[in-house]
Amino acid sequence: LEFDLGQIDLGSFDHYMLKEIHEQPQALRVCLKGRIDNRAGKVVLGGVQPFARELARARRIVFVGQGTALHAAMVGEYVMEDLAKIPTEVEFASEFRYRNPIVEEGTVIVAISQSGETADTLAAVHEGRDRGATTLGLVNVVGSTIARDTDAGIYLRVGPEIGVASTKAFIGQVMVATMLAAFIGRRRFLSQEQLESLLAAMERMPDHIERVLLQSDAIRDATSRYVDRENWLFLGRGVNYPVALEGALKLKEISYIHAEGMPAAEMKHGPIALIDDGMPVVFLATKNSQYEKVVSNIEEVRSRGGHVIAVATEGDEEIGALCEEVFWVPEVPEPLQPIVNVVPLQLLAYHAAVMRGKDVDKPRNL
Ligand code: M6R
Repeated sequence: LEFDLGQIDLGSFDHYMLKEIHEQPQALRVCLKGRIDNRAGKVVLGGVQPFARELARARRIVFVGQGTALHAAMVGEYVMEDLAKIPTEVEFASEFRYRNPIVEEGTVIVAISQSGETADTLAAVHEGRDRGATTLGLVNVVGSTIARDTDAGIYLRVGPEIGVASTKAFIGQVMVATMLAAFIGRRRFLSQEQLESLLAAMERMPDHIERVLLQSDAIRDATSRYVDRENWLFLGRGVNYPVALEGALKLKEISYIHAEGMPAAEMKHGPIALIDDGMPVVFLATKNSQYEKVVSNIEEVRSRGGHVIAVATEGDEEIGALCEEVFWVPEVPEPLQPIVNVVPLQLLAYHAAVMRGKDVDKPRNL
């Protein structure tokens, strides 16, 4: 057995989704266990070790997935280019498989999937494999078809995910993609010093998530002030853009509120017309390389009457003064920010769905 019965028992929680949100610190600890060698200062990824040299020489990496897994793949694109400096793309598996993709020598396909059974993602793996690519699977379910049909891979080890809305799988997918990027990066341009500082930050992530979870009641109260609104926007830049997409997906799939996620800069190319008095706009506004730009996007929304709910770095008084509601997250290095920033958005979606009387663990049509 890959898990014990406690992991599939609801315990004292009302819903599996809430339980799985709260399991995230422990899930991440298990995900990291044995994979960070502090003494040697390296990432240990037994599953991909035989391919280390090939991965370091890769000319192109293509992440594929669907839904939440695709959002994790989008974070993977950022961190792979940032840490490993390999040209990286991300594609809906469903588009990749049907569009006669170009797979040149040195292409690595990285499939991300919680279940390891999503038909489009599996077909994208087969398509890539048949065209000569090396294929990797970042998968949760041990022995699943994607895990078996890829050349190598890394298990997420976040435990069974029973709620339909993916939560702990997302943070596991992002963490594993970041570990892979660091593993390859160290064999290319990432210095030992940079790697060790990233590894130390990774090990602190479970504690950081614990801190964010303490705000669940405050997030529920803030959500109650906007829960009757039918249209929401989620905006972020850089590594936080996929988090905006994930926040919008969580809200729409379980509460049936219409929510759109997009890069914050895209707002002025049309969607800004939607913003009217009191429209909730959720910003990922943590301190990073794009922070100043995000602040000016917040001001644009505020000046049109939108109500801003921000995810911001603890102690950031500027954001505190500018926004109606703020969910605080600890300061972490930019590549790891999605792992903490998504947590308040999971809680927001959860509380909104409960307040609207929806079946959180079994959303309609899913
Ligand atoms: O099992 P997979 O990760 O391959 O599933 C892909 C998507 O169907 C999945 O991530 C879905 O978007 C989430 N469950 C939504 O919360």
